Amino acid sequence: MSVAPPAAGSAATAPAVPGYDRADWASSFRNVGLELDDVPLQAARGAIPPELQGTLYRNGPGRLERGGTWLHHPFDGDGMITAIRFEAGGASLRNRFVRTEGWLAEEQAGRVLYRGVFGSQKPGGPLANAFDLRLKNIANTHVVRLGDQLLALWEAAEPHALDPDTLETRGLSRLDGLLKPGEAFSAHPRFDPGHHGAPRMVTFGVKTGPRSTIRLMEFATEDDVAAGIKAGDLLSERSDTFNGFAFLHDFAITPDWAVFLQNAIDFNPLPFVLGQKGAAQCLKSRPGGQAKFWLIPRDSGAFAGQAPRIIDAPDGFVFHHLNAWQEQQELVVESIFYSDFPSIGPDTDFRAVDFDLLPEGLLEQCRINLADGTVRTNRLSERCCEFAMVNPEREGLPARFAWMAVAERETGNDPLQAIKKLDLISGERQVWSASPRGFVSEPLMVPRPGASSEDDGWVLCVVWNGARCASDLVILAAASMAEVAVVELPLAIPHGLHGSFVPA
Ligand SMILES: [Fe+2]
Repeated sequence: MSVAPPAAGSAATAPAVPGYDRADWASSFRNVGLELDDVPLQAARGAIPPELQGTLYRNGPGRLERGGTWLHHPFDGDGMITAIRFEAGGASLRNRFVRTEGWLAEEQAGRVLYRGVFGSQKPGGPLANAFDLRLKNIANTHVVRLGDQLLALWEAAEPHALDPDTLETRGLSRLDGLLKPGEAFSAHPRFDPGHHGAPRMVTFGVKTGPRSTIRLMEFATEDDVAAGIKAGDLLSERSDTFNGFAFLHDFAITPDWAVFLQNAIDFNPLPFVLGQKGAAQCLKSRPGGQAKFWLIPRDSGAFAGQAPRIIDAPDGFVFHHLNAWQEQQELVVESIFYSDFPSIGPDTDFRAVDFDLLPEGLLEQCRINLADGTVRTNRLSERCCEFAMVNPEREGLPARFAWMAVAERETGNDPLQAIKKLDLISGERQVWSASPRGFVSEPLMVPRPGASSEDDGWVLCVVWNGARCASDLVILAAASMAEVAVVELPLAIPHGLHGSFVPA
């Protein structure tokens, strides 16, 4: 572990040559060949804290090649769920592919039958792919618990419901008839810790085109017997239509607002229709375009029932937000900005991608003045980052600390190799690094039961260990970023996407 000085005024100390071996990073891209059943785990270093009780669920692409055909982009890989259960200082691991219709059909055929959104094609070139506009719901982006279901999420279509204990796929879920067949359902729900009483899951679906409609939905996450409410019940919804094509991957919440950032981006579907590109490769930044914040009042907040607010947003492209909160007249939104939409062209092998040619993600704070519609922007860190979160109890509220995956170098774009705790007020940071041979995924901050301070708890992270060609689970002390335990997993999990922790 290294403890760095505050960001303000610190000199960039980027080495001329990146401190990692590309072969170590790329060795993660492989097929998962095992489905394990509650394999007991032991710490190789340190000890699993007995107070850490619950299940860490991770989702990500587990299948990257079929019949000799490699996917063009790992995000097109079939969703594979890993569950690591913690109990009384012990842990066990189970993993399962989501049995989607596409996965089952391709397993049986032994070859690629579908195109992928990020540019993966069926063998046979454009002629074999033209006019095949079917979407393969790959269920690979996030996994959350809602009521008695575990939901494997993929933003362009319905979730898949799984058994939270066995991970067996129950099937495509329309959430008791709430969703229409094929309806988009975001892979980025936000968990309101109880701004208006009981905790909620707030999420959305977006139907896009020349005009875009956002369906905002709020679900109960706990039973309320007196009110006749069960966990998983829909509590409220609203739909709002906006001008322009919307690519909305994530959003943020406060007690009063759902905050969306519409990137200035265009979609030209022709190369997709003609079999030359995947749909996501047809997204392109609109030069001189104006990004917008779309602020939708939440049903339980001070502006319930009112029309959305639309406010000009800064230049740049955003996939993920850190957090948002309200401060008198200001709505503060913290997001990871890219200078442009990062895309891998049709002729580039993702394993050979040149990181220097891709923009890095940088954490910025936007203070939106709701009285006059102006926005002030302030960069919070110069270090390339992704997958940032605050203590889940501070979601939608002012938070002092954030945890995020970062590159090892202070500046420039590189694979994510370290986890940083950032003090959002003082700029002080502490870094745990897996470099040179380790590569981190999304870190999850888990508060200690009964914690009295915001940074009391652990950070859980699945790390690709290039030396072992397998994955490790790393448990850090959230306050100090000291290593608490390293568990060498009996599984090689390709670089993943999102996950969640469900307390016991
Ligand atoms: Fe995401």
